[in-house]
Amino acid sequence: MASTPGGSGGIDALAVEARRFPPPAAFVREALVRDASLHEEGRRDPVAYWARHARELLDWSTPFTRTLEWEAPFARWFSDGRLNASYNCVDRHVLAGRGDRVAIHWEGEPGDVRTVTYAELHADVQRFANVLLRLGVRKGDRVNVYLPMIPEAVVAMLACARIGAAHSVVFGGFSAQALADRINDARAKVLVTADGGWRRGEVFPLKPQADVAVASTPTIEHVVVVRRGGNPVEMTPGRDVWWHEAMADAPAECPAEPMEAEHLLFLLYTSGTTGKPKGIMHTTGGYLAHVATTFRYVFDHHPDRDVYWCTADVGWVTGHSYIVYGPLANGATQVIYEGVPNHPGNDRLWSLVAKYGVTIFYTAPTAIRTFMKWGTQEPAKHDLSSLRLIGSVGEPINPEAWIWYHEHIGGGRCPVVDTWWQTETGGIMISPLPGATVTKPGSATHPVPGVGAEVVDESGTPVARGGGYLTLTTPWPGMLRGVWGDEQRYRDTYWSRFPGRYFAGDGAKLDDDGYLWLLGRVDDVMNVSGHRISTTEVESALVSHPAVAEAAVVGANDATTGQAIIAYVTLRGGQRVGEADLRAHVATEIGAIAKPKTIYFTPDLPKTRSGKIMRRLLRDVAEGRNLGDTTTLADASVVDELQRRAHETPAED
Ligand code: PRX
Repeated sequence: MASTPGGSGGIDALAVEARRFPPPAAFVREALVRDASLHEEGRRDPVAYWARHARELLDWSTPFTRTLEWEAPFARWFSDGRLNASYNCVDRHVLAGRGDRVAIHWEGEPGDVRTVTYAELHADVQRFANVLLRLGVRKGDRVNVYLPMIPEAVVAMLACARIGAAHSVVFGGFSAQALADRINDARAKVLVTADGGWRRGEVFPLKPQADVAVASTPTIEHVVVVRRGGNPVEMTPGRDVWWHEAMADAPAECPAEPMEAEHLLFLLYTSGTTGKPKGIMHTTGGYLAHVATTFRYVFDHHPDRDVYWCTADVGWVTGHSYIVYGPLANGATQVIYEGVPNHPGNDRLWSLVAKYGVTIFYTAPTAIRTFMKWGTQEPAKHDLSSLRLIGSVGEPINPEAWIWYHEHIGGGRCPVVDTWWQTETGGIMISPLPGATVTKPGSATHPVPGVGAEVVDESGTPVARGGGYLTLTTPWPGMLRGVWGDEQRYRDTYWSRFPGRYFAGDGAKLDDDGYLWLLGRVDDVMNVSGHRISTTEVESALVSHPAVAEAAVVGANDATTGQAIIAYVTLRGGQRVGEADLRAHVATEIGAIAKPKTIYFTPDLPKTRSGKIMRRLLRDVAEGRNLGDTTTLADASVVDELQRRAHETPAED
């Protein structure tokens, strides 16, 4: 363990956080949930709670009679039922006469707009499903998606679901190497990409990256390319097809095929403590029931009048669950924006909130802290009075950021939902229900109805108050069904540390009122701007540079990004390389998000006498803490030298 929860940092600050925010009366009047009844229903019988919602919120072509089969750690939910996720997200809304409702208000970074109704989404999804079929994709195959934030990303995912192919979306900021690794692990048949997308006023190329990736992915038979950036690309005849040409030729109708509830819906790769990203498996019925239910209650969603906006990228789980499946299953109208929040000005997001009359806004603490830095004059330029609920996800939100968000974005009137969950959980697990829960700034409060969570100590014994490890105690419908191709890793990572419990890898604290406070990761996973990056993955990337002999990477507290990546590097004898070159090398290996903020070159790394790198100590150095006893080190002088340099070297922006 890299650190022990309950021992350091935030806890003292949390103890003094005494502010309480009851749900505002005006909000409660119209809220879907106004009291504890839903929580009570979930507590009484979680399995029945989920069965009721799966029946009420989803359409089944074959209704299920079995709700849960649980042979720890393997769960099957609704296993004898059949349904289609794309039918539930699109067709049924059109069939109910709501085809004219806007599904997506899309805005490109340069300011171009597209309005996609449910009827149009229905038409596009069917056509693209036919394109995939024509390219040889069949039920059970995998399709990789590597796209900017454009409506085609949603269409591609739903088209896969329609025909029973699992999608594996890779964030457009990942490198060609990272894309190739994920394609090869999934053995995907088709890749859907774009020429490029807009970011910070420029086109960033995707197809050229995809070409590099596909050169080493023998399973890819075809590449479909959306024209978005207008940048020049090479098309390989026989392999590559333009999206718009394929769509023009495709038949208009493609019936949604009913899938077994446990049919694989998607893979999504996420970092673990070892170097290789894990393909997290999510299946159809349980996942959809979980995200549809939590979207409805956590965001208090009223489909006829809400305009919802989640600022995540579709390449992360938040985009899957709370841009695609949760909102669309609920027939939501939402905003999708392609670019960065500060183009052309620092008020871009607020101008969009005002323009589209956004009522529910969901973003990440790192973004909120950035907005704080930009200043209150930015949101003040726009009328944000349409907002009625604001949410946060991805990392612990510090009370100061919570209060700022509440005041300057929420106008003091919007409840804040701080939602804790993970790629593995599929959907929200711990969060206030905005019409029923008294919130405390910085606390995610309580498990949502139907979810069981406990904080345990080292030995796995539940603690009534104080710090410990967050565990989940009962199976939930959106839970991962495994790690693609690696059952043992699934057991080892999540179920072995505390027998009978799912171990999330997060520290948490229970306060005197039974509120949960998330304290960050307790393993070697860093959380940078709400994205999980493993220390090992960055170390492997550094060591793959010919000049590097050894590297140790730690996450150090950072005021804006939550954690920042700090690397300590030892070079091979006689070799030289600059910090900028090494950072660029990591960007090539993994992607720009994994670039270390600072690299310290050192002739040696601090090691125990048995040769283990003391990462904890390096984190202390990076965060400027007093080191205390270093007598267990093989060579204590190494640390003195590193400390001296940490004081000398200004961290770069
Ligand atoms: O450490 C927790 C943190 O993000 C991790 C999950 O990351 P990922 O799978 O990428 O999913 C992020 C979006 C759901 C968790 O183990 N985390 C997420 N939400 C919160 C959080 N930490 C504290 N508070 C949150 N609300």
